[in-house]
Amino acid sequence: MDLLLVEKVLLGLFVAVTLAIGVSKARGKRFKLPPGPFPVPIFGNWLQVGDDLNHRNLTALARRFGEVLLLRMGQRNLVVVSSPDLARDVLHTQGVEFGSRTRNVVFDIFTGKGQDMVFTVYGDHWRKMRRIMTVPFFTNKVVQQYRYGWEDEAAAVVEDLRANPKAGVEGVVLRRRLQLMMYNNMYRIMFDRRFESEEDPLFVKLRALNGERSRLAQSFDYNYGDFIPILRPFLRGYLKICKEVKERRLQLFKDYFLEERKKLSSTKGSDGLKCAIDHILDAEQKGEINEDNVLYIVENINVAAIETTLWSIEWGIAELVNHPEIQRKLRSEIDTVMGPGVQVTEPDMPRLPYLQAVIKETLRLRMAIPLLVPHMNLHDAKLGGYDIPAESKILVNAWYLANNSNNWNKPEEFRPERFLEEEAKVEANGNDFRYLPFGVGRRSCPGIILALPILGITIGRLVQNFELLPPPGQDKLDTTEKGGQFSLHILKHSTIVAKPRVF
Ligand code: HEM
Repeated sequence: MDLLLVEKVLLGLFVAVTLAIGVSKARGKRFKLPPGPFPVPIFGNWLQVGDDLNHRNLTALARRFGEVLLLRMGQRNLVVVSSPDLARDVLHTQGVEFGSRTRNVVFDIFTGKGQDMVFTVYGDHWRKMRRIMTVPFFTNKVVQQYRYGWEDEAAAVVEDLRANPKAGVEGVVLRRRLQLMMYNNMYRIMFDRRFESEEDPLFVKLRALNGERSRLAQSFDYNYGDFIPILRPFLRGYLKICKEVKERRLQLFKDYFLEERKKLSSTKGSDGLKCAIDHILDAEQKGEINEDNVLYIVENINVAAIETTLWSIEWGIAELVNHPEIQRKLRSEIDTVMGPGVQVTEPDMPRLPYLQAVIKETLRLRMAIPLLVPHMNLHDAKLGGYDIPAESKILVNAWYLANNSNNWNKPEEFRPERFLEEEAKVEANGNDFRYLPFGVGRRSCPGIILALPILGITIGRLVQNFELLPPPGQDKLDTTEKGGQFSLHILKHSTIVAKPRVF
């Protein structure tokens, strides 16, 4: 670091301290802020609570400070909401006030400062993007058009596992094959494209760039520059990598998928079934959105749809391996309802209540997005009798809502039966504010309509065709969690033995 930079930083720190003290005094008079640990100048609570604000650490803080609490992370205000009533207030009653998203220096790069849909503020742009995306992605018609494709992809996974003798003896890292399946499920909808194998060079490139994008965005490594703007010069290297990954990734979407699709539709004319991107390109042609918005829609689907669903499948399988009695009960339901060997399809879901309960229980205990995607209030607001300063980051701890022993019977147990017994009325669509795996309200997950059948087809087919076991010498899979800024997945992608069943 050169001397000039040190001087600038020190001067900046001095100005920031003076300002922080001034602002906090002024605010102290005006605002009744939610409780929380006592902040120190500049750093706020950052040094006390650290970087890893995962659902479990935030649960511990909620037990100390209550159902709404405030953390000052440097210059950022972070509000944590931990009760069903306050979740209703944020997501439903005051859904407009709290319906924006926070971004940060890294998300600003990946979303072109909110030119996308998932991370943009609540307003005209978001409304337009969500409307344009609904018909091609989020309707029952889409499910009915693509469910055969999802069933084929699941059948291909079963076939590959049956053909691999290692899978039934030593086991394989099932996630790798399921990842290809999820890419195919979503790329069929988006571009009417699929990848033949895990080694397909385009798939390898795509997977690597998407992986980098997720790692860079979900990491805690850039917190310091985000919380304390004066430290941002030290993030230059990190942000440069983010920019490179973003450019390479968008270029890949453009060159290999969008341009290809444009060429194809210009030669084919406009008859035949349209894939999602044709609808999106129509909207571009009509001048409703621009070329960048199209690219950011592709970016959003790549991050919002593929890994979230894959993590949930992976968690579901891990829980079934670790609870063989539940796995047997599920297999027996499928055999009885379908007949041995008759493969599960999307329209069978209502006839398979235990399968649905297994999926709900997986999404309860192992929520892929346990803090929802962070919300934000553009203006000063009120919540639970407290003042919430404008532009606070609002984390709804949905995991705690669904795992609080005051509201659930032995929540730490993986017990699908709860959704057939005492919680039989609870659905994943947010009809109960204790259970919000997809959020609820304006910014809730529109992908739920696709995610649930994909989960049902995939988990159903794996369980009906294989006995799923831990690898030899191990009696349980390691289910240690790995959390990010707001995501949760299994730390170790386990080897799983898939012993084929004979019908
Ligand atoms: C098991 C799989 C999935 C889970 C657990 C999940 C969960 C969530 C959650 C918790 C949110 C944020 C809600 C909030 O902030 O209030 C969200 C937002 C979103 N999800 Fe999903 N999701 C899944 C699959 C999908 C799929 C398959 C798609 C697309 C095909 C998708 C597209 C989106 C989009 C576009 C948003 C942003 C909505 C907005 O900001 O208006 N998700 N999802």
